[in-house]
Amino acid sequence: MNDLEIAFVGAGNMATALILGIIAQGHNAASITACDPSAEQLQRLKEKLPAQANIALSQNNAAISAARVVVLAVKPQVMSEVASSLKPHISPGTLVISIAAGVTISALQKWLGEQSIVRCMPNMPALVQLGASGLYANENVTDRQREAATSILGAVGTSYWLEREKDIDAVTAVSGSGPAYFFLFMEAMVEAGEELGLSADVTSQLAIQTCAGAAKLAADAPDGLADLRKKVTSPGGTTERALDSFRLDDFNSIVKRALHAAAARAAELESMMDKN
Ligand SMILES: NC(=O)c1ccc[n+]([C@@H]2O[C@H](COP(=O)([O-])OP(=O)(O)OC[C@H]3O[C@@H](n4cnc5c(N)ncnc54)[C@H](OP(=O)(O)O)[C@@H]3O)[C@@H](O)[C@H]2O)c1
Repeated sequence: MNDLEIAFVGAGNMATALILGIIAQGHNAASITACDPSAEQLQRLKEKLPAQANIALSQNNAAISAARVVVLAVKPQVMSEVASSLKPHISPGTLVISIAAGVTISALQKWLGEQSIVRCMPNMPALVQLGASGLYANENVTDRQREAATSILGAVGTSYWLEREKDIDAVTAVSGSGPAYFFLFMEAMVEAGEELGLSADVTSQLAIQTCAGAAKLAADAPDGLADLRKKVTSPGGTTERALDSFRLDDFNSIVKRALHAAAARAAELESMMDKN
C-alpha cells in the first residue's frame, strides 16, 4: 500500500487532509499526485506538506493515468463534468474513491463506466485527523482495493464499511453534518455561561474543553454512553437538575427530528444529482 500510486482530483481542504494523513502514515510521497486547475490551490497544498514530501502537482487531470487509486475530491456540483472528463484516463483496474456528498454510485458509473468505485462520506474533523467516515463499495471492488480505501480514509480518522448505499444518508446525518450539531450545542452553552456571569472567552474555553473531554471519556467508556451519563449524574445534584430540564423539553426528540431531516435532505440531494 505504501507505494501505491494515488492521484487526487481536487486539491482542496479534504484532499489536503487526506494527503497529509497518508504521508504521516508513511506513504511514499513520490507516489502521490494532486491535480487541480488552480495553481494557487496547488501552491497552498505544497506549503502544508513536509519539506521533503515530493508529491507530483498537476493542473491537468490527465496526470491520473498511472494511478491505481483515484480520489475524487471536488465539489459535488462539478462532479459530473470532472468524472466524465476523467473516463478516458482511468484504466480498468483502477479504484475510484469519491468523497463528494450526494453523488451516488450509479451517477458515478454513468460518468466513469464500469469501474471499481468506493463512495465515502467523511467529515470535517478529518482536517485534524479525527474524522469519521462511512464507506460503501460497488460489486467491482476487490478485497485489496477495500484495504486501500480503508487505509486512505483511516489516515484521517476512523472508517466503517456499510452494507447498503442508502446508509450513507444516515452517516451524513450522524457524522457528516454532526460536527455542526456540537458547534451549535457549544454556542448555546457559551450563551448560557455568559448569562450566568462568565466572560465569553472563559465560557467558550470551558465548553470546548468539556466537549473534548466528554468525547475522550465516551471513546474509552467500556459500558457505553448511558452508563457514563449515569456515573456523572448524582441523585439530587446539579447535573440531574439540568438533564431533567432537557427531558422536559424533549431533547431526544429534537435531536432525532434534526437527524431525520438531515438524512431526508441527503436523499433529496442524491436524487437531484442523479438527474444531472
Ligand atoms: N469539507 C468537508 O467537511 C467535507 C465533508 C464531507 C465531504 N466533503 C466532500 O469533499 C469534497 C471536497 O470538499 P472540500 O471541502 O475539500 O472542497 P474544496 O476545498 O473546494 O476543494 C475542491 C477543489 O477541487 C478543485 N476543482 C474544481 N474543479 C476541478 C477539476 N475540474 N479538476 C480538479 N480539481 C477541481 C477546486 O478548485 P476551485 O476552488 O478553483 O474550484 C478546489 O480546489 C466535496 O465533494 C465535499 O462534498 C467535504
